Amino acid sequence: MTVSVSAGLLDQIKQHGAIPRHVAIIMDGNGRWARGRMLPRPLGHRSGMKAVREVVEGAIEAGVEVLSLFAFSQENWQRPAGEVSALMSLLEEYIQKEADELEEQGVRVCMLGELDRLTPPAFAAVDRVMKQTAHNTKLRLNLFISYGARAEITRAARLLAEDVAAGRITPAQVDDAALEAKLFTAGCPDPDVLIRTSGEQRISNFLLWQVAYTELVISDVLWPDFGRRELYQAIAEYQNRDRRFGRVSS
Ligand code: IPE
Ligand code: IPE
Ligand code: MG
Repeated sequence: MTVSVSAGLLDQIKQHGAIPRHVAIIMDGNGRWARGRMLPRPLGHRSGMKAVREVVEGAIEAGVEVLSLFAFSQENWQRPAGEVSALMSLLEEYIQKEADELEEQGVRVCMLGELDRLTPPAFAAVDRVMKQTAHNTKLRLNLFISYGARAEITRAARLLAEDVAAGRITPAQVDDAALEAKLFTAGCPDPDVLIRTSGEQRISNFLLWQVAYTELVISDVLWPDFGRRELYQAIAEYQNRDRRFGRVSS
């Protein structure tokens, strides 16, 4: 049943034709999913791994080029130590379990954020999967870890200031393109659609620069329950939007 529903939806969004090149997702609601089952929060995060697998496969099937997943924010470092360490272990486990499969599927894994804050084993795992999959071209999977958009923009400004101070560029050469080239997402198209799960209606410091004209889709589904069907529903909703970019409708 679920398979045929999602297969029907996949046909529908493919027939429409406007497949988003870049889908970004704020994966939220793991804690509430666990609480609803009287389970500890880390088990909610663990269940969320299955949803990651589903959306990666769904994105490949739909023909999405870039999938950006917000996995751990800079603000999330302030959560209880036990939860933070559970999340770091899950990151390592995810990479260990999925690396070969991702490699076979043609997925290039990129980790974006302040990665020097990761524990050495987590950093080593991240580094390994990035190198292992660097040549893949089917889907670019951006995993945002220890990421905050304001810090990303501030870092870009600092890098530009260093370039100016060193005489590599003039102040007049600091434009949108120059700043964009210093972001972690340099070279990626902006997200066409940003999905947030669990019904929350905020950006929570994700991709502030890049979402200037992104379509927002809020799903009430908690992240561990999100799958292909919900991804395709969100893409169908995106396809019904009239993107005007400040102009008038054609
Ligand atoms: C999202 O789920 C995962 C991370 C932020 C790491 P939450 O842990 O935020 O789940 P809720 O929002 O408490 O339900
Ligand atoms: C955003 O979710 C961060 C990630 C999904 C990684 P949070 O649960 O941390 O955000 P707030 O606290 O609800 O804004
Ligand atoms: Mg949350």
